[in-house]
Parts: sequence; C-alpha cells; structure tokens
Amino acid sequence: MDKNVNKRFLAVIGGFALLAAVPVVSAQARGIPQIININTQADMASIKGLPKDRKHVNSFSHARHAKDYLKGKEKYSTYPYSDAFTCSACHPGAKSEKALLAADPAATLSASLDKVGGPRKLMKYFHNICRQCHKKVKKAGIVSGPTNCNGCHGRKVGSEK
Ligand code: HEC
Ligand code: HEC
Ligand code: HEC
Repeated sequence: MDKNVNKRFLAVIGGFALLAAVPVVSAQARGIPQIININTQADMASIKGLPKDRKHVNSFSHARHAKDYLKGKEKYSTYPYSDAFTCSACHPGAKSEKALLAADPAATLSASLDKVGGPRKLMKYFHNICRQCHKKVKKAGIVSGPTNCNGCHGRKVGSEK
C-alpha cells in the first residue's frame, strides 16, 4: 500500500469507529435537555397532519422548568405532577424520568396530541400546558412566565435565563 491509500484506509476505518461510537455515547450521556427550541413541524417530521408551521418558541428553559420553576406550582398546572416528578406537567401520562428519556420524543408527543384531538390541535395542546399555567400563576400574584404572544414566540435563540 502506498502512503495515500493507507491514509484513506485509516480515514474510512476511523469513520466507521465514529459511527459505531455515537449511539453508545448519546445513550449514556442523555440527561434532561437543558434548553429546547420548540418547533414541532421542523423537528418531528414523523408526525403527520400538523398545521402549517406559523410559530415556534426559541430558548425554552426546559431543565429550569423541570427542576426549579414548577416546584410548588402543581395547582396551576393543566396536567397533574408532583415536585418529585415534574415531567408529567408537560409530558402528560409520563411514567418515569427514565422511561421518558429512553422514548422517541416524536412518538411521545404524537400520543399526547392524539389524546386531545390529533396533530391539528398542536397550538391548543401547547397553550393549554404553557400559557394556562403562566396565566394562573400570574393571577395568583407569583412571578410567572410570559402570557403575551411575543413573550414566547418572539424570543431569540440564546435568550433563555
Ligand atoms: C414545563 C414543561 C416541561 C417539563 C416540566 C418537562 N419537559 Fe421535557 N419537553 C418539553 C417540551 C415542550 C419538549 C419539546 C416537545 C416535546 O417533545 O413534547 C420537551 C422535550 C423533552 C425531551 C425530548 C428532547 C429531544 O431530544 O428532542 C425529553 C427527553 C424530555 N423532554 C424529558 C423530560 C424529563 C425527563 C422531564 C422531567 C425531569 C421533562 N422533560 C420535563 C417540556 C417540558
Ligand atoms: C406549571 C407551570 C408552568 C408550565 C406548565 C410552564 N411554565 Fe413557563 N414558567 C413558569 C413559571 C413559574 C415561570 C417564572 C419562573 C421565574 O422566573 O422564577 C416561567 C417562566 C417561563 C419563561 C421565561 C423565563 C425563562 O426561563 O426563559 C418562558 C419563556 C416560559 N416559561 C415558557 C414556557 C413554555 C414554552 C412552556 C410550555 C412548553 C412553559 N413555560 C410551561 C411556569 C410554567
Ligand atoms: C407561554 C408560551 C406561549 C404563549 C404566551 C403563546 N404561545 Fe403560541 N405556542 C406555544 C408553543 C410552545 C407552541 C408550539 C410550537 C411548535 O410546536 O411549533 C405554540 C404554538 C402556536 C401556534 C401554532 C404554531 C404552528 O406552527 O402551527 C400558533 C399559531 C400560536 N402558538 C399563536 C400564538 C398567539 C397568537 C399567541 C398570543 C395570543 C400565543 N401563541 C401565545 C407557546 C406559547
């Protein structure tokens, strides 16, 4: 083998090694997502029958909601949860953190949408979870999240607290 062929051979082997390593790494390292941009149409192509993509929410502080913001606020939530297991406030019916982290996110969301009338109800589904809680918390006079459209839909990437 001349030098170039050898290099190419090593690159190919290296590529395979990387491909093989990726799923292992992500399965081990997958914790609660910190920040999420919520754009179902763009991110979950496997969910058929969603409405036309008109809005999304950038820089949603996912982990802070789960670990901090929701503590003690069960009574303002549309879906039941507990301080020890906040996940089910926004992933209705979720059984455990472990199960949620292991599942395919699109399959989980799709099942939840089906329970409220299907993918076309995307806006209603999310407003029921996010906006309802913010409205009720605000009404109770406690520090809340945005209730106006732009407060959620006008956020720039990187604008999380
Ligand atoms: C305040 C709402 C809220 C809470 C609480 C919450 N999540 Fe989420 N989570 C979301 C939203 C919104 C998405 C993106 C849309 C979807 O997948 O439903 C998401 C997505 C996810 C995803 C998929 C991310 C990806 O890779 O696409 C996982 C995994 C997840 N959440 C796990 C959890 C776990 C575990 C908990 C509890 C510790 C939790 N979530 C609590 C709102 C929440
Ligand atoms: C059960 C109540 C509850 C639910 C459900 C909830 N939030 Fe919040 N959210 C809060 C509270 C309380 C705060 C204020 C926290 C603070 O500033 O101390 C907040 C703050 C925020 C903020 C501003 C602060 C920041 O970290 O960027 C945004 C944006 C936000 N929420 C978006 C959402 C979205 C999007 C969803 C649905 C996917 C959602 N929230 C679901 C209670 C909730
Ligand atoms: C507390 C946060 C929050 C507030 C406030 C809010 N929304 Fe939303 N909205 C969401 C989330 C989260 C989604 C789901 C986005 C996605 O999955 O692409 C959504 C979805 C939508 C959709 C459907 C998006 C699509 O692409 O099909 C529309 C339209 C919409 N919102 C309009 C509004 C309007 C108008 C207001 C003000 C009257 C408003 N929203 C206020 C969080 C919010």
